[in-house]
Amino acid sequence: MSELGTETAFEVFAKAKALEAQGRDVVHLHIGAPDFETPAHIVEAGIRALRDGYHKYTPAKGLLELREAVCADILRRRGAEVHPDDVLIAPGGKPTMFYAMLMFGEPGAEILYPNPGFPIYESMIKWSGATPVPIELREDEGFGFDAEKVLAKITPATRLLIVNTPANPTGGIVQRAQLDALVAGLERHPHVCVLCDEIYSRQLYDGEEHVSILQYPELRERAILLDGWSKTYAMTGWRLGYGVWPRDLVAHAERIQINSVSCANAATQVAAIAALEGPQDAVDTMLAAFDERRKIIHAELNDIPGFSCVMPKGAFYAFPNTRGTGISSRELERRFLNDAGVACLSGASFGASGEGYMRFSYANSVANIREGLRRVRDCLQPA
Ligand SMILES: Cc1ncc(COP(=O)(O)O)c(C=O)c1O
Repeated sequence: MSELGTETAFEVFAKAKALEAQGRDVVHLHIGAPDFETPAHIVEAGIRALRDGYHKYTPAKGLLELREAVCADILRRRGAEVHPDDVLIAPGGKPTMFYAMLMFGEPGAEILYPNPGFPIYESMIKWSGATPVPIELREDEGFGFDAEKVLAKITPATRLLIVNTPANPTGGIVQRAQLDALVAGLERHPHVCVLCDEIYSRQLYDGEEHVSILQYPELRERAILLDGWSKTYAMTGWRLGYGVWPRDLVAHAERIQINSVSCANAATQVAAIAALEGPQDAVDTMLAAFDERRKIIHAELNDIPGFSCVMPKGAFYAFPNTRGTGISSRELERRFLNDAGVACLSGASFGASGEGYMRFSYANSVANIREGLRRVRDCLQPA
C-alpha cells in the first residue's frame, strides 16, 4: 500500500474545509472541477431517467444508446469512426486509466508518463509494480511534448505510453506535428500501446485544434482514448467517463469493470446522452468564461514578484514558475493556505519535475481569482 500515491487536491480541499470550519475565509484555487452548475437540460434528463425507472444495473459496458451517442460525438468532433462495442462507459474518467494500468503494469514492465502530470498516473504505475518512466514536460518548450525525446525512452520493457492533451497541471497541449512524429516513430515499436487522456479535449483556447489519438487509424489497435463528461459538462460529481479500447482489449477492460464496479450509474448514463445530443451552448459559455479568466490569471501571476507564467493553451490551470521566490513549492502551498487563506497546489504534487512551480486553477470567479492572487502577493511581500 505504501506504493500508492494520491491526488493532493483532495487533501488540500480537506485542509481548506477544516480552516473554513474554524471561521477562516479561504479562496479555492486548487479546484479541478468547473465551478459552473451542470446545464439544466442534463439535470432534467437525469431526473426524468430516475422517474422513468432507470434503477437497475445496465450492461457492464454501458447503455448501447449512450455508447452510440459517444461514437457519434467522436465522429463529429474528432472525425474518427468508432464502433460502440469498443466503448466502455465507466464511473468517471479515472477508471479507464486504472484499468489500463492494471492491465499493462507488472514488475519488470515500464510505463512512460508525463511529469509534471496528473498524479494518479505515477501512483497507479507504481502500485501495479511497473516502473514509472517520466516524460519531462518543460516550460521552455511551452509544456508541449517532444516526440523524439519520448521515443528515445522506449525500451523492450515499455508496455504503455501515457499522453495527456490538453494537460493537467500545465495547460500545455500536444501539437499535431508532434503526435504525427510520435505515431510514425511508434511503427518501430509495435509492442508499445498508448493511453491518451483527452478529458480536457473541449477546453482549448486561441483557436488551437484538439488533436486526438483516434485520428491515427494505424494506431487504432493499440490506442486507448480516455474522455468523459466531468470537465466538458461540469459533471465531476456525477461520476461518468468513457474509454475507447482496441478490439483485443475491450473485453479485458469490461471484465475488470465487472470485477470492480459492475457498471456506471444508470440515470447518469441517460443524462449523459442528453449532454452529448443536446445544445452545446453551455459548453461554449463556460469556455468563454474560462478564456477570460485565463488571460486575467496569466497577467496577475506574472505581476507577482518571483513568479513567471507561460500562457496556458488548454484545460483550466495556470502553472507558474515560482523559483524566483526562493521558497519550495510545498512550503508555498502551506504558507498560501495557512497564512494567506488561498488553496492552491504545489507543483511537486504532480511529480518531481513540478518542483519550482505551483498550480492555480481558474475554475473560479474573476473576483475570487483577483482576491486570491492579491493575498498571494501580500503573503510574499508583507507590508
Ligand atoms: C488529466 C486528468 N485525467 C482524468 C481526470 C479524472 O476525471 P474524472 O473526474 O472524470 O474521473 C482528471 C481530473 O482531474 C484529470 O485532470
